[in-house]
Amino acid sequence: MKNTNDLILAPDAIEKMRIAGKLASDVLVMLDAHVKEGVTTEALNQLAHDYIVNEQGAIPAPLNYGQPPFPKSVCTSVNHVVCHGIPTDNKVLKDGDIINIDVTVIKDGYYGDTSKMWIIGEGSIMAQRICDIAQKALYAGMSTVKNGSYLGDIGAAIQDVVEPERFSIVREFCGHGISNTFHHEPQVMHYGKKGTGMQLKTGMTFTIEPMINQGTWKTKVLPDQWTAITKDRKLSAQWEHTLMVTDHGCEVFTKRDEEDLSFLIA
Ligand code: MF3
Ligand code: CO
Ligand code: CO
Repeated sequence: MKNTNDLILAPDAIEKMRIAGKLASDVLVMLDAHVKEGVTTEALNQLAHDYIVNEQGAIPAPLNYGQPPFPKSVCTSVNHVVCHGIPTDNKVLKDGDIINIDVTVIKDGYYGDTSKMWIIGEGSIMAQRICDIAQKALYAGMSTVKNGSYLGDIGAAIQDVVEPERFSIVREFCGHGISNTFHHEPQVMHYGKKGTGMQLKTGMTFTIEPMINQGTWKTKVLPDQWTAITKDRKLSAQWEHTLMVTDHGCEVFTKRDEEDLSFLIA
């Protein structure tokens, strides 16, 4: 448990978050060439694991995390899987699938947590729309963040993007404070009311990671106790960044070079 002042990172901790965030984003960039029709989610897990451990000298945070211990080094969530999908040898990506890969690395005791969507092949119009809107939802949430803004502003901005598209926002999982532990306060809801909730302060670090569903927002967890799927088995998409509140905006620790975040103020 952290009190509000403990949520504001010291300069040395901020520098470690920058490094961890960059490593996490580098894993997604590395995976890009391998996320193709015919690959198994376990092969992607193995590539990510070896890269994190051997190339980055870092630790894959999901491995053995929680209870029961998560058995793999990344989460791979395909189609109607909302989050926390477990890589396996028998899940082969096929044309038209959508997949989220969620990477969290620990470097020098600090965490970087990020995820993105891929479409295998061209994908349906619906697959393209849900992936696109989920990224726009993340960006809308990020664009509200600055010293003095409210947690509720993030959720409200996400709702303003998602609801006109008649998609729904998952309620059971949220973003989270992150620094020298994986998940700490605050909980970052992906829905909410402007001007409500905790007031953000420069130096706070957390994730935003909206999960957007084609149909109902309701989810259920499979008997493996990790894999969360949509109740109606319609599609779900998610993008995630780790960021820090700054005086006039935010710094995105997990930014990839391919991303244009010029709409943000540092
Ligand atoms: N990376 C996920 C998040 O965004 C958490 C994964 S926990 C695991 O918070 F154990 F499933 F890996
Ligand atoms: Co997260
Ligand atoms: Co994550």
